[in-house]
Amino acid sequence: MCGIVGAIAERNVTPILVEGLKRLEYRGYDSAGLALIDVAGRLERRRRVGKVASLEQALAEQPLSGALGIAHTRWATHGVPSEANAHPHFSHDRVAVVHNGIIENHEELREFLKGEGYVFTSQTDTEVIVHLLHLRLRELGDLTLALKAAVQELHGAYGLAAICLDQPDRILAARSGSPLVVGLGLGENFLASDQLALRQVTDRFIYLEEGDIVELRRDSVQMWDVAGNPVQREVVRYHDGAEAADKGAYRHFMLKEIHEQPSVVQRTLEGRLGAQRVLVENFGPDAAALFAKVRNVQIVACGTSYHAGLVARYWIEELTGIPCQVEVASEFRYRKVAVQPDALFVTISQSGETADTLAALRSAKQMGFLSSLAICNVATSSLVRESDMTLLTLAGPEIGVASTKAFTTQLVALLLLTLAIGQVQERLEAGIEAELVEALRRLPTRLEEALAMDKVVEKVSELFAEKNHTLFLGRGTQYPVAMEGALKLKEISYIHAEAYPAGELKHGPLALVDADMPVVTVAPNNELLEKLKSNLQEVRARGGELIVFAEANSGLGNGPGTRVVSMPSIHDCLAPILYTVPLQLLSYHVAVLKGTDVDQPRNLAKSVTVE
Ligand code: G6P
Repeated sequence: MCGIVGAIAERNVTPILVEGLKRLEYRGYDSAGLALIDVAGRLERRRRVGKVASLEQALAEQPLSGALGIAHTRWATHGVPSEANAHPHFSHDRVAVVHNGIIENHEELREFLKGEGYVFTSQTDTEVIVHLLHLRLRELGDLTLALKAAVQELHGAYGLAAICLDQPDRILAARSGSPLVVGLGLGENFLASDQLALRQVTDRFIYLEEGDIVELRRDSVQMWDVAGNPVQREVVRYHDGAEAADKGAYRHFMLKEIHEQPSVVQRTLEGRLGAQRVLVENFGPDAAALFAKVRNVQIVACGTSYHAGLVARYWIEELTGIPCQVEVASEFRYRKVAVQPDALFVTISQSGETADTLAALRSAKQMGFLSSLAICNVATSSLVRESDMTLLTLAGPEIGVASTKAFTTQLVALLLLTLAIGQVQERLEAGIEAELVEALRRLPTRLEEALAMDKVVEKVSELFAEKNHTLFLGRGTQYPVAMEGALKLKEISYIHAEAYPAGELKHGPLALVDADMPVVTVAPNNELLEKLKSNLQEVRARGGELIVFAEANSGLGNGPGTRVVSMPSIHDCLAPILYTVPLQLLSYHVAVLKGTDVDQPRNLAKSVTVE
């Protein structure tokens, strides 16, 4: 999704802005641009459709140099990806604005501003902001006052930054529904939608809160809260993840992130396991008292995070006997929900900024849930700030658009949650918690073993390079794992992939099975294995080619049309975490064979901050 970078300094800020945009590339975008007040005192810009590299090329051909600038990567919402729609947008060549989010009343504002004589040159909702700001500036004569007035008239979500030729001593920015962070330098200051964009220039950050307005000058930062009162926000030093925007020895971020799973799972477990139990205190000081009251769990999330929720439902109901519902956020937020008594509302999100998940949380607050808990990877995100409780996944920044390490750490966090509730309510079967705590401690090693299967999985991936359709099968907790495997394959290799609970095979998908449609099955050793074996027979009988991930002692063997990939043995409860890994590797290798853009698949964004 869109990204913002801004800088005010004594030196030329163009390289800082371009580097910042590159660091935001992981969010997905389709055009890029920057504007600055150049050394000759003109407001100039360069914009390009496509990658930041094209913008860099444009800057090489027509260089820009100046000490005050804003830059943007745009993911089209209103208006096609084009140079005219790319940010920064200008008004009368004096004011420039970049914006993330959506202005919902842009049509009325556009009509109003046309009436005031403004001429629009783009189809974007953003252009109303820059003309409105220009109008208020004409009336008030001061950019800071003008922005404060203009935001009062905007409905919707925005993180925005503005500069003005007549007041080249400042950058103005405002946040409402779309994250912004200030980066503090010495005699220079910066702004971005994600601190990752500024890691090359500072490690000191101030996170804007909802409704905040900030005025950045070279040597000062002034802020006002939603009520317009001057406010000081905490300065946070950021150390972790400095190296995350670097692929290291890996060819793609996705592969690097797949391989980070043992260590980030380890990190997510650190400090959270006692000798034989989960440390409930990690969920917050009131968690134990609150968990004692929980009679229902409602999970809401999007995409991969939703799949993590689906696995958790099996765990919660099986281990604690507490009913659990799971729903995608975009559905939950728009229907009349019958809230169960004493229900805990749980959101799962890597970014903590997904618009639908955040909106679901906000509406849940009006619905009478007992409390809200966020399972989230970004400590400073809106979701974390707005939830009653948080359990952070400590996956570190995830750059590949297709989520990998965020998912496995979410599963770990959800199992901790399950055990915490079960423990507090004494609902767990005797001995199971100690057994699972022990299994969790060994999980990083099991994940290493799964990663060691990389070469085998790479070989298997050759089967898929020429295929257009695939089917993923699983039973129990492996059904959501199959869903996640199918999602990964379609996201990055563009092969059509569907997941089915294996028992549903003969109720439809079997009709599709033939030699051109490989069937991938995740089959850990459990009470469902025998049933799964019959499903596999059904596939073989139709000439379908089978790829089965199973333990060596599963009784499943290679044969004509059947390829069994041997998995490390694992506690059945943790099998969904382990079996996810070879499916990630499989989709990665298929995508590499097909030559697709693994880290930034077409049409997809890492962080979906609009509906
Ligand atoms: C986008 C990403 C997915 C992610 C989903 C939910 O679609 O491409 O990888 O699973 O958003 O994001 P969240 O940050 O809320 O987990």
